[in-house]
Amino acid sequence: MFESLILTGLKVFLGCPAVFYEAALTEFFANSSVRNGVVVSTIKGTAIEISEEVFATTFELPTEGLTDLSEVPKNLVFDARSLFSESTEQVSISCLKKELKIAYRLLSDIMAKTIYFKAGSFDAVTRDRFMLMTAITFDVKVNWSSLLFAILKEMVTPDSRQEKGYAIQICVLLKNIPGLELGESRAFPVPRVLTEKTVHRYMVINEKVGTEEVADVSRVKKTPVKKAVSQKRPASVDVEVAQW
Ligand SMILES: *[C@@H]1O[C@H](CO)[C@@H](O)[C@H](O)[C@H]1NC(C)=O
Ligand SMILES: *[C@@H]1O[C@H](CO)[C@@H](O)[C@H](O)[C@H]1NC(C)=O
Repeated sequence: MFESLILTGLKVFLGCPAVFYEAALTEFFANSSVRNGVVVSTIKGTAIEISEEVFATTFELPTEGLTDLSEVPKNLVFDARSLFSESTEQVSISCLKKELKIAYRLLSDIMAKTIYFKAGSFDAVTRDRFMLMTAITFDVKVNWSSLLFAILKEMVTPDSRQEKGYAIQICVLLKNIPGLELGESRAFPVPRVLTEKTVHRYMVINEKVGTEEVADVSRVKKTPVKKAVSQKRPASVDVEVAQW
């Protein structure tokens, strides 16, 4: 599953080095807006402009494929409703996470932490996330440049339900701006970085979802599900999350 996520062309976006300039980031968001389709801001008097082109080039994002998630083929959505389901019943496209098989709960959490940052949707799988999970699972090409940049634009739009995210990626973009004084970089807040350890924590949480029994961690550690996932995970890819 990690491999399919990486194969979608998100390798650089999800795996970019974790530099974190907290003060600059705070100022970036405080002053940001969208002007003519470009994300603009000011940091210490320096004008910042992030166009979709710069964004896509920096993170080597694919620009071919679906720009609208409602275009995910209906037959694949139908298949996904069975494939993702923990039971023999099909799940609906906006379902509860506990209705999904463990692997897809995990994929949903990763999407929620790395791509969408919406308040209050962590236990439910939203329609958008379901569509995206379907696209990733069935290798449907997605115009990631368009999709991710649209989310960034939403983040800087006042009154949007989209929470602020992409902290690491924004720091990478800021670092590329000549002459911009960013101050000291510091380590990214640990609970907000998706490492093997946090993934394991998600696994434990997800295995508990929907069961009454409180599984103790040592037992959970030995379950085959988790082993299968960690073995599949490419060792060379460090997936960093940009939730802020
Ligand atoms: C940008 O945000 C900072 C921090 O909120 C503020 O002090 C500064 O005046 C803002 N700059 C502009 C140009 O709005
Ligand atoms: C990807 O989406 C952008 C709009 O965000 C568009 O300009 C670009 O042409 C799209 N790529 C392709 C190959 O259609």
